[in-house]
Amino acid sequence: MIDPSPRHLAWLAPRFLLFFVLLLFAGQSLQAGPGQHAVASAHPLATAAAQEVLAAGGNAFDAAVAVTAALGVVEPQGSGLGGGGFFLLHRADDGYSVMVDARETAPAAAHPDLYLDADGEVIPGLSLDGPLAAGIPGMPAALGHLAANYGRLSLADSLGPAIRLAEEGLPVDATFLQMARFRLQALSDGADAARVFLREGELPEEGEAIVQPQLAATLRRIADRGPAGFYEGEIAQRLVEGVRAAGGIWTLEDLANYELVEREPVVLHYRGARIVSASPPSSGGIAIGQMLNILAAGGNGYGDDEVQRVHLLVEAMRRAYRDRALYLGDPDHVDVPVARLLSAEYASRLRADIDPDRATPSAELPLEAADAAAGPERSALDRESEQTTHFSVMDAEGNRVAATITLNYPFGSGFMPPGTGVLLNNEMDDFAARPGEPNVYGLIGFEANAIRPHRRPLSSMSPTFVETADRVAVLGTPGGSRIITMVLQGILAILDGAGAAEVVQARRFHHQYLPDRIEYETGALGSRVQLQLARRGHALSPQVRPFGNMQVVIWDRTHDRIEVASDPRGNGSAAVFTPATAPEQRGAP
Ligand code: DON
Repeated sequence: MIDPSPRHLAWLAPRFLLFFVLLLFAGQSLQAGPGQHAVASAHPLATAAAQEVLAAGGNAFDAAVAVTAALGVVEPQGSGLGGGGFFLLHRADDGYSVMVDARETAPAAAHPDLYLDADGEVIPGLSLDGPLAAGIPGMPAALGHLAANYGRLSLADSLGPAIRLAEEGLPVDATFLQMARFRLQALSDGADAARVFLREGELPEEGEAIVQPQLAATLRRIADRGPAGFYEGEIAQRLVEGVRAAGGIWTLEDLANYELVEREPVVLHYRGARIVSASPPSSGGIAIGQMLNILAAGGNGYGDDEVQRVHLLVEAMRRAYRDRALYLGDPDHVDVPVARLLSAEYASRLRADIDPDRATPSAELPLEAADAAAGPERSALDRESEQTTHFSVMDAEGNRVAATITLNYPFGSGFMPPGTGVLLNNEMDDFAARPGEPNVYGLIGFEANAIRPHRRPLSSMSPTFVETADRVAVLGTPGGSRIITMVLQGILAILDGAGAAEVVQARRFHHQYLPDRIEYETGALGSRVQLQLARRGHALSPQVRPFGNMQVVIWDRTHDRIEVASDPRGNGSAAVFTPATAPEQRGAP
């Protein structure tokens, strides 16, 4: 029987309240999506392409097709049909997360000595310029796969904006010019790339239009026939003929046999968050996991002291990159000891080995089997970030895509097979050309990342999701070897509560085992911190050029808010818009 006495009501009332609050939260956690679309990419026209496709009823996966294809047209120095990348997907319906691995593969005729002369010395430039530097592209396969398996629109519909942009052309901007100047020689070496991107062998004027009718025709073929329009038939024929005539080793079988792979992403747990990131052949997720585990091994933190924080992070970076060099490679060809590298026991051992007061010289960290030459850097522009590109998308229903895509170096190999409009990558430089030989980002590798037929070169690209009790973040950045440490710092900032704008603006620092030094952006380390780090034995290397071009989407489920930000270091744009209404622009113009 219900007792109506005031005492009993006083007992009952808070319990009712609690019940309703719980009901409210339960309702909220059932809410799958933010109700708004959000896109952040490195180019306003690519962001606009995503908006167009989302407005036409597409989902985040259709938007990813549209952005990918558009970026290849409007940012030809960064990515394109002739390259590859990793797409991290999350499907809201069933919570399924997967990594679409569209990484390039080594041609069947590739071998460990591909870039060595008769004395076993690396031939300068051979893994960077011209068709011998190009792996078999994965991008056309990715476009078809996303549309066919995850999208709602046809491939042709999602490729529409890119085809239009390629046909109509777009004005040359300062970034394009800077990168084209840097790659002038490689672009001049072949008639087709020179015709599209140069004017009589010289750089075009800023504002002049770059029109790409041949690329539009190739995109149309893919729109009509799917990936087979690229990997088979007339385009494949032209690709192979062009590559071989200029000294490359591709065959029609290489193209016909290209296989995209769906892989389980790396899933990490840190400070109550679930972090989903790229699995091998990217080194990103594992290296991030190792670094977070090292932090967690000390009680989930690094204290309040800035010097101690940077010291510990740097020591964690050093150890993760040492292991990257030794153990990571294509999981279909080498045994990557994922479980061991990500085990708490291993992290505890690494943590115990860190001296809290002194830098560990990288030379003192064992590198079995290795006679690593911390060789000279191979170019003045080796760490620029207008090459490669990242975009983050979340649709109103909560489907999301984090994708980092690339040709590797600016304009890839600089080689465009005649009659295709497709600029080829130089991803082969991501292999170790020889044991311990630094690649263009100063990264070394050994047997696990040696050149072998059909292998995928080890990558640093790290598209990532961060999921906490109340927020979901989608992030990533270009930046060669620094991608991993930039994404790590992004994750930590998000876990510390930073908003999207704060995450992209934050100044960044980096250590990659070799060269043994802390590289940092202006403003990343205060003068006291610099002094203290130097006293602990760290070599400091301030960098003039900015690090990365991060694109972030954060959905705050608790406060029902979605935030986007495009890195101010780049020219990108980010937008949030309600389905079926005009987009509201945010972030950099
Ligand atoms: O896959 C990788 O790790 C490299 N090819 C990425 C290159 C890159 O990010 C260049 N950008 N600055």
